[in-house]
Amino acid sequence: MNEAATAGTPAIRVNALSKTFKGCTALDSVSIAIAPGEMVALIGASGSGKSTLLRHLTGLALGDDRMGRVEVLGTPVQACGRLAGDIRRTRSRVGFVFQQFNLVGRLPVMTNVLAGSLGRVPLWRSMTGRFTAEERQLALDALDRVGIADKAWVRASSLSGGQQQRAAIARTLVQKAEVILADEPIASLDPVSSRRVMETLARINAEDGVTVVVSLHQVDFAIRYCPRTIALKKGAVIYDGPSAALTPRLLQDLYGSQAEELGSDLTGAASFVTGLRPGYALAANA
Ligand SMILES: Nc1ncnc2c1ncn2[C@@H]1O[C@H](COP(=O)(O)OP(=O)(O)OP(=O)(O)O)[C@@H](O)[C@H]1O
Ligand SMILES: [Mg+2]
Repeated sequence: MNEAATAGTPAIRVNALSKTFKGCTALDSVSIAIAPGEMVALIGASGSGKSTLLRHLTGLALGDDRMGRVEVLGTPVQACGRLAGDIRRTRSRVGFVFQQFNLVGRLPVMTNVLAGSLGRVPLWRSMTGRFTAEERQLALDALDRVGIADKAWVRASSLSGGQQQRAAIARTLVQKAEVILADEPIASLDPVSSRRVMETLARINAEDGVTVVVSLHQVDFAIRYCPRTIALKKGAVIYDGPSAALTPRLLQDLYGSQAEELGSDLTGAASFVTGLRPGYALAANA
């Protein structure tokens, strides 16, 4: 069990966090608490602040200086626009997964995955591929868990998008991350690969108790894989609750003029919601 769980503190706590970019409000007094072991979807239209919020969680971006606090795994990350002192250790406990995979294409999958243990493995040894048997085993076990153990020694660039994303998830396993922050991990994947990636995240969440926060454009995936959804609109939290209780009306409000663009996704999500909760009208504008 991870340290935060034993201490009973939230894995992630955000209080009154605001972020303004030259007069543009990217985060509007966001307050959330996520317990250890939760799997939470972050949804919202393009520009609603999902990536900005994720970046603030590890201090890659700093909030406005009036107020606003972020704590991760019981450790301060930032307060009033200032980075907390030594947050390196906290960052080392958080794994990142990005839409664009962030693997080094010309290096073997094994090397990319073992980059998750940087800090334990010296950089030069990682780059030259000289790993100990124990390190290799750790990486192989991680690759096995995400279903691509047979790809350990091929170049990362030769993997499909879905496989690259699963390698990125394996890297967080090697890192022994207690929190995984995934920013649109399935945005550039086909539906089958998307399902595999979401299932992989859900399994790690269920089996290891790793806290997962995943931003998604596909609302139906949020509903299917994440018990809880936080919805952002213009930087403000406008819904935070069970994914199964999302309503077509809220989805329409959330996506506004982008609803048409997201058409099939929203219709799918709306019918999914309707299916879960008989009595809801299917039409998004009901
Ligand atoms: N570095 C920056 N400089 C200026 N404005 C920024 C910066 N980063 C984000 N923004 C603005 O903050 C708002 C939130 O952006 P953010 O990227 O967090 O949205 P998002 O929900 O992740 O969108 P998408 O779904 O398109 O990824 C947007 O209006 C964006 O233009
Ligand atoms: Mg984004």
